[in-house]
Order: sequence, then C-alpha cells, then structure tokens
Amino acid sequence: MGNGARNGIKTVGLAPNLSSGFYGQDIISVRQFTRENLQYIFAIADEMRAVVKRVGSTDLLKGHVLACVFYEPSTRTSSSFIAAMSRLGGSVIPINEVRYSSVTKGESLPDTIRTLESYADVIVLRHPEVGASQVAAEYARKPIINAGDGVGEHPTQALLDLYTIQSELGTVDGLHVAMVGDLRYGRTVHSLARLLCQYDVQMTFVSPEVLRMPLDVLNEVKAHKRDVEETYDVHDVIASADVLYVTRVQRERFADQAQYDSVKDFYVITSELMGQAKERMIVMHPLPRVSEISYAIDNDPRAAYFRQMENGMYIRMALLAAVLGKA
Ligand code: NCD
Repeated sequence: MGNGARNGIKTVGLAPNLSSGFYGQDIISVRQFTRENLQYIFAIADEMRAVVKRVGSTDLLKGHVLACVFYEPSTRTSSSFIAAMSRLGGSVIPINEVRYSSVTKGESLPDTIRTLESYADVIVLRHPEVGASQVAAEYARKPIINAGDGVGEHPTQALLDLYTIQSELGTVDGLHVAMVGDLRYGRTVHSLARLLCQYDVQMTFVSPEVLRMPLDVLNEVKAHKRDVEETYDVHDVIASADVLYVTRVQRERFADQAQYDSVKDFYVITSELMGQAKERMIVMHPLPRVSEISYAIDNDPRAAYFRQMENGMYIRMALLAAVLGKA
C-alpha cells in the first residue's frame, strides 16, 4: 500500500514505519519515515502553501479537532500547529499552560491523553521527558504527534528542516550539512541527523567537547555509512558547507549553570564569517535564537531561518491532513 492508505487503524509497536500510510498513525520519530513518505508529505506541503497563498484557508478538516498539549515552552511549534489546523478549517484545544490544567492536580500523562482524545481527533504533545510521546501513543487510540520529547526527538521540525533544504537548494543528495552548537541537548539536530541518513550527504558536527552529538546518533549515522566528521571549529566547515544548521545552547537542560556560561557564546555566526561561505548556501536555525547568529545576517539572502519557520506551517498542515486521512 502507498502513502494514501485509508484504513486508519493505528499500527502498534515502537514508532512503526509509515509504509502502509499515515491515516490514523502516530508520528513519534523520524525513524518511521522513508524517502517515499517524505516526498509524499513534501508534495502535500507544496499544495498547502499554494492554497494558503491563494485563498488563505480550506475546509479540508472542517469538523475535526486538534488538542495541542505543551508541557514545555513553545512559540513556533504550537502556534504553527494551531495555524495549520485553523487554515484547514478545523478547531483546536490549546493547552499551553499545563500549570492551569489538571496536571498540577497530579493527573498522569496517560489520563490526560485519554481525556483529550475523547474530545479531539489528533493530539500534538510536547513533553520534557524522552519517550513521553511513545508512552502517550501506547495509551491513545487517536494519533499522537511528537512536538518534542525532552532531549529526544522533534520529528516535525526535522521534516520542515529537510523540506526547507530541498526547497532552497533543489536537492538533498550531494550536500554538505554542518550542524553547529548544542548537539548534545538539541533535539532538532538529533532528528535531522537521523533523517539525513536516508540521503547521500556529508555531515559535520560542530560543537564544543561538552556539547558533542550523543553517541547513539553518531553511531546511527556511521551505521548508514554516511560521511561524518566532528570538530569544535566552525572555520573548518564554513567554506564548504551547503547548509549551516545553527542551534541555541539549551540553557534549560544544564544541571550546572557554570558549564552553561562556559559554552553559551561559543559560536556566533557573523557577517565576517559569512564572507567565507559559499555564495549558494543557506543558514538555518530552528529558532528561538539567542546570540548565536548575528542580527546583521538576517538580510543576507542565505539566511533561510525565517523561510524555514514559515515552512513549518505547511508541513504541519500536510501532516494533519495525512494522519486524519484527508490528504
Ligand atoms: C526547538 C525546540 O523546541 O527543540 N524549537 C522549535 O521547536 N522550533 C529549538 C530550541 O528550543 O532551541
């Protein structure tokens, strides 16, 4: 069966692959995706972009309800999911402040999920613990979409990142992708590195020693025989990178404030540094930015991070339509 399978029955197991379609399925990890799945979602995202540009919205998901549950702060991910559902004609139960929900009364994640799925057709979940979305998925009958599980994964971000690379540079194969910054705690780079294993890319992980890419991700990349190197010096990659993917040092994940202070300003991408980069390359960032990209670069046509952010809404529209069987 192709990506358009219509049975809608959730496949059980640990983040099962999406080979028999998206309808009714959880989106927990990038490991679920094949290149074919990705191209299918990207094609729908292209259509969503065209619809939004032309008429602003459609009624494809009219009558459907999304529960958007965020146990950690978010601006882009939560608002782009809300905008995505709204532009598809559906409605949203936004729970951004779990402080004001029954979670503070001691309600467990499974009970919160069981409650929300009795009102909603799909649940987007961000949670501080690795594996929380998988746990939620095991209890829920309705699809769970992982919007970030601690330092684990952020699959929808990786999808929009890959979509951005493809839209901006026309291809993914053959590129040199350098990931810079907090590769230890940054979940977006964990998902993106795993997803890029499906493509013929060269990857360089650029970080200070204490923020190196976790071994499990590094080994996964190596197991796919991808060309991968590690360095702490951004000058090693600036001239050859096609994609410079910069990340924020994740202050909230540090147990030791002094350690955070010692690395927080390790990298700053400046105009001077961009002078050494290729003419046809892109700078990406999942945002929020703190100080790692100079504001002077925002007007450089190679700064793709705001376009990347906009792409998030089209990708999330595509995913919502797909898991609800309307793509
Ligand atoms: C990222 C996240 O939450 O992991 N933000 C996002 O979703 N765009 C990156 C970050 O917080 O640094």
